[in-house]
Amino acid sequence: MLTTGSQQGIDLCGKVFINPGDNVWVENPTYLAAIQIYKVYNACFNTVITDKDGMDIDALKQGAAENGGKLVYTVPTFQNPTGKSLSLERRKAIIECLEDNDMILVEDDPYSDLRYEGEVLPPIKSFDTSGRVVYLGSFSKTIAPGLRTGYIVANEEILAKMMVGKQTVDLHSNALSQVLIYEYLKSETYDAHLESIKLLYKNKRDKMLNLMQAHFPDCAKWEKPQGGMFIWVEFPQGVSMTEFLSVAMDEKIAFIPGASFYALGGTDNTMRLNFSNSTEADMEKGIKKLGELLKKLFNK
Ligand SMILES: Cc1ncc(COP(=O)(O)O)c(C=O)c1O
Repeated sequence: MLTTGSQQGIDLCGKVFINPGDNVWVENPTYLAAIQIYKVYNACFNTVITDKDGMDIDALKQGAAENGGKLVYTVPTFQNPTGKSLSLERRKAIIECLEDNDMILVEDDPYSDLRYEGEVLPPIKSFDTSGRVVYLGSFSKTIAPGLRTGYIVANEEILAKMMVGKQTVDLHSNALSQVLIYEYLKSETYDAHLESIKLLYKNKRDKMLNLMQAHFPDCAKWEKPQGGMFIWVEFPQGVSMTEFLSVAMDEKIAFIPGASFYALGGTDNTMRLNFSNSTEADMEKGIKKLGELLKKLFNK
């Protein structure tokens, strides 16, 4: 089913599956708009720890067995905000966990086409034999967010419910955008476009990582994302990146403080940097200045 961006897909999952008080499992941290959306449906949030291979499925299994759950929301590939991806092994293992605990999985996947290196990982949906995975795709990151076009892949029973939920909001998604995207995907230029943005973003990622290496204080920790648009930075406990944002904004530098990506709050020593948007010149100025400000903050 075509949707008005994958954001609408996240919302429709809330509309169809969540009753007030239902347990929803999310990565810690997770996509902040998913937190906003499921809050509207009065979900009860439960968080799952993540490591370099994404969501810890054993922790999810244990948590779901103890507390139950209706829905798991995940961005398994180049996650927003951390850039991490769920390993192949865990993609298979999560299916069993869904079946054992009678849960639905929302696989939100707007970034997987923006892979700059490493092996392609199959969607979790490809291992789904019992119709428990709702896959959300988007053309926002590869073509244009303003076209507001995404899609849902799910079984017919789920889609029928979602159709009713969608009709009450927008009857159908913009048809002109769909025609534009259809023609573009069919044309020879799309593949070349995708390759060219991947090269552009890869170079920007590398540039930002090199600048961070040169200018950030030693206490800042990050990992190199293999794709997507974000670099996630962790600082020692006790600092507030929310407060530090206003210091950076005075110098016309913006980042997203990590605090809003934690469904249960309580963590403010992280930041999300975006590397796809700035020009190289702005990046050079911005990261250098941000590094100086961070060094001042940490007295280094
Ligand atoms: C993880 C994730 N899901 C969904 C969206 C929304 O995308 P769309 O423009 O397709 O609604 C975004 C956009 O930033 C995102 O990062």
